[in-house]
Order: sequence, then structure tokens, then C-alpha cells
Amino acid sequence: MSEPGSPVVVRALSKTFGKTRALDNVSFEVRPGELFGLVGPDGGGKTTLFRILATLMLPDEGSATVLGRDVVKELWEIRARVGYMPGRFSLYPDLTVEENLTFFASVFGTTREAGYELIAPIYRQIEPFKDRKAGALSGGMKQKLALSCALVHRPEILLLDEPTTGVDAVSRREFWDLLGALQTSGLTVVVSTPYMDEALRCQRVALVQKGRLLAIDAPGEVGGRFPGDLYAVRGTPRHALIGVLREFPHAVSVQPFGDTLHYSDARTGLGVAELTAELATWTSARGIHDFDMQPIEPGIEDTFMALMGGVAE
Ligand SMILES: Nc1ncnc2c1ncn2[C@@H]1O[C@H](COP(=O)(O)OP(=O)(O)O)[C@@H](O)[C@H]1O
Ligand SMILES: [Mg+2]
Repeated sequence: MSEPGSPVVVRALSKTFGKTRALDNVSFEVRPGELFGLVGPDGGGKTTLFRILATLMLPDEGSATVLGRDVVKELWEIRARVGYMPGRFSLYPDLTVEENLTFFASVFGTTREAGYELIAPIYRQIEPFKDRKAGALSGGMKQKLALSCALVHRPEILLLDEPTTGVDAVSRREFWDLLGALQTSGLTVVVSTPYMDEALRCQRVALVQKGRLLAIDAPGEVGGRFPGDLYAVRGTPRHALIGVLREFPHAVSVQPFGDTLHYSDARTGLGVAELTAELATWTSARGIHDFDMQPIEPGIEDTFMALMGGVAE
């Protein structure tokens, strides 16, 4: 059942390009005022989903509504009320910052001033460059201008497709601070990202891979979906440790995370002491010293990799 007033309702949506199933029976809902993230690697189907929600592409099967309107039958109603920021090419590089904003406002039959309250905090950051051509802005500034342009007609929902890809770390943080502020003001935001640190800033995330949604949950809860137990393992030399652990007959996954490796074992119910002793013996026989391992709570990234590994080609 869909909750009354869900700003996005997607039901059994599929889209195929030739032999590629870009979306494969996807269903989910976004709650009012939510900051909802679509997280996943390239080619997962995120852009296809955004294009369908923004009424720029038709689904092959299934249905979707945005703000209660059908994406196939009521596209004009949707377009007037949605702010869409495509991953690339949303700005006119030969127009200045000012001209881009004025242009996007005129497309929606409004003026820059009408949407000003919403974009003021963002626009203040790009104002010093208002006479500069959009094509000459830094990546971070481009994203802020594109966000301003997507907000100029005072939409009720924002669809942002990888808004921070290719943007430096400081600008990425600033951009997410702006999204947080917009969401606090009551706007529903659906945003895609390949970055796990950004996923943590969403209220709920959907993990997307190969056209499927693997899990939908609060980012802090996604870790609970990790199958089995997880350990942080150290040893020297580290580069050799990865290979040695992957050769261990019961290893399910061995992934580098910062300065440790995350290890999971095929067997459940094995005591930590027993497993530690087994692995210490296995690794020391293969030239690893300073071996150490500790049980840890899986995070969203661990779960994502584990679930991704479980999707058949
Ligand atoms: N217009 C298109 N024609 C052919 N294949 C496409 C088209 N758009 C997307 N695809 C394919 O569909 C899959 C999903 O792509 P996309 O939605 O862009 O994923 P993402 O945004 O997550 O990277 C990819 O395999 C991509 O190559
Ligand atoms: Mg994409």
C-alpha cells in the first residue's frame, strides 16, 4: 500500500535498452520531506530512473507517480512542480551565471526574484561570479548554479542526479549542507550518489545495482543487513595479507577499508577466539606477521559490497 501523500511512488518499473535491463522491476516510495538517496556504481540505472521521474523518458513496464501525478499521463503537471538537476550539461556554458538563472526562470514562466528566498543562501556563494560564463566556473560553483537553476521555479520536490560527481571534497560537503538546509525547509529531495559518505547524510537510501534495488533503509540500519559476521584484520605486509586471506578456504569477502581489511567467513557460529587462532596460523605460515583481528559492526559500504557480490551477472 502506498502511504497517502508519498511524493514519489514507483511500482514494478522496468526499462530496457537493447539487451541492457537498465531498470528491472523497481519499486519504492519516498516519504514527504525526506532526503532519499539512490546509491550505487556506474551503470546501475540511477540516471534512467531520474529521467523517468522527471518525465523525460517513458518506462517500458510498471508505473510511477511524482507528487501524485502519473509520469506518463500527467507530465506537464509534474514538470511545473519538480526541480531536476541532471548529472551533466544542465547549464548553458556560454551564458553568464545571471543569464542562466534568468533563462531557467523564463522557461518556467517565472522570474528569478520569485524563487529568490529559496535560492538566496546558495546564490550568495556564487554571486561574486555572477558575470562569469557558466563554462568558466569551477566544478563546485557549477553545481551550486545548477542547483539554483533547478530551484528557481519553487519546486516541491528536487531530483538531483549525481550532483557532486567530479566535485572537490570541500564543495561536496558544502553542497550537502545546502541540501540539508533545503530539506529542513520542507522540500523533498531525491539524490543519487556513488559516494558512501554522502549516503550517510540521507534519511533513507536505496542501494542500486544492475537495475535492481538491493535494499532500502536508513543508512545506519543498512549495516544490519550484512550477511554473517565481520572482522577488521591487520597484518604486515598488508598488500600480501589481502591475497593470503582470499586464499583461505572459508573466506567470503576480503575488502580493503582504510588501514585495515574487512574479512567475513563462510561459517557461522564460530567463536572469535577459534577463528582468530585459525587465521593467525594460516597467515603466519604464509609470511604475515603482526596479525590482529577484531569483530566489527558492518557499515553501509560493507553491506553494499556484500549484496552487490550476490547479484548474478
Ligand atoms: N539511452 C541509452 N541507450 C542505451 N543504453 C543505455 C541508455 N541509457 C542508459 N543505458 C544503459 O543502461 C544502464 C543504466 O544506465 P544509467 O541509468 O545511466 O545508470 P547510472 O546512472 O546508475 O550510471 C547502463 O548499462 C547504460 O549503459
Ligand atoms: Mg548516471
